Amino acid sequence: MLPTEIKKDIHWVGVVDWDLRDFHGYSTEKGSTYNAYLVKGTSKTVLFDTVNAKFTGEFIENLREVIEPGKIDYIVCNHAEMDHTGSLAEIIDLVHPEKIICNKICQDALLAHYNRSDWPFEIIKEGDGLDLGGRTVQFFGSPMIHWPESMVSYIPEERLLISNDIFGQHWATSERFDDQVNQGELFWQSAKYYANIFMPTSPSVAKFLAKLETNKLEPDMIAPDHGLIWRRGIPEIMKAYHSWSDGQTIPKALVVYDTMWGSTARMARAIGRGLSGNGISVRLFDLHYNHRSDIATEMLDARAIIIGSPIINNHILPKMADLLSYLQGLKPMNKIGASFGSYGWKNMITKMLNEQLEKMKVTLVDEGVSSKYVPSQEILGQCFELGRKVRMVVLEG
Ligand code: FEO
Repeated sequence: MLPTEIKKDIHWVGVVDWDLRDFHGYSTEKGSTYNAYLVKGTSKTVLFDTVNAKFTGEFIENLREVIEPGKIDYIVCNHAEMDHTGSLAEIIDLVHPEKIICNKICQDALLAHYNRSDWPFEIIKEGDGLDLGGRTVQFFGSPMIHWPESMVSYIPEERLLISNDIFGQHWATSERFDDQVNQGELFWQSAKYYANIFMPTSPSVAKFLAKLETNKLEPDMIAPDHGLIWRRGIPEIMKAYHSWSDGQTIPKALVVYDTMWGSTARMARAIGRGLSGNGISVRLFDLHYNHRSDIATEMLDARAIIIGSPIINNHILPKMADLLSYLQGLKPMNKIGASFGSYGWKNMITKMLNEQLEKMKVTLVDEGVSSKYVPSQEILGQCFELGRKVRMVVLEG
């Protein structure tokens, strides 16, 4: 895609990755973008971030559309992860910048990645400024959003926040702005990105949102390093981030299961019937057909999760073990839950699943239901009642 001028003399010069389908176990079914921004002042020109190494050639073409690369004075590195620094070495060799501006933790990370102590680092601290001539840049740390060194860059004269990972989406589009795309998909992709990347560090996100207010940063444009640039929906995405980082939930229950010969699936459907009715959203996910990262997205605002699996070789089925390992890493907040499953000769499935839920700090509201082989009508009745019980707790809020 060609560069886009997003404000006067400020250009998106990133690349679109139409083919990305996996980002650290997160299913990026619609690709992503690696956004980078070129900001011209009257005296200095700055490049904010670079792109994944795979796209260095196209990135250089985009830079050349806007400026002769040798005229770039500074490169700001907001985050060391390779989706934003993979092309850095080649760009530095091309540009020969006067300064590479980053914080100390980022410098350490860049040295550990690229081993280039000869680069002209300029180390900045929280709140430091940079004069570009007619424009300034202020730097604010956003630690653990996504890595310890992560920071954002704010241009007060333009009310532009170059936010790096925060407020992004993994979504490859030719459109550059939030008001040019389907709003339902935009917020789904934003929620998916939050759930799969920032959920574990929600307290850090909450601190960062407070920092924006303390420093009276009121951007009218937020330019993240992935996905669409926000210019119309800033209040809505801010509200969503406050809600997600606070761990707010809605009356919604997930039933997530794997099944071998259909017994656990039958139990899941009975639990789903017990949960259903006015005032609650219920979602059933068979792990044969649903990806862990979509379940994480649904879990972001869900109040309850009920998980089910049969036993194989004295263990949980592998797709469920995969999901639980992934969700435990994401550290969801404020969930209630329960478990169910079938077994052949040793009744241990709910005990094993409950232990996993407790590791995730899910509050158990029942000891769960298990079935020897195929569930009888009596067991299915117990499943229905388990659903009713969880429904009641969900509706109590
Ligand atoms: Fe988009 Fe944490 O890198």
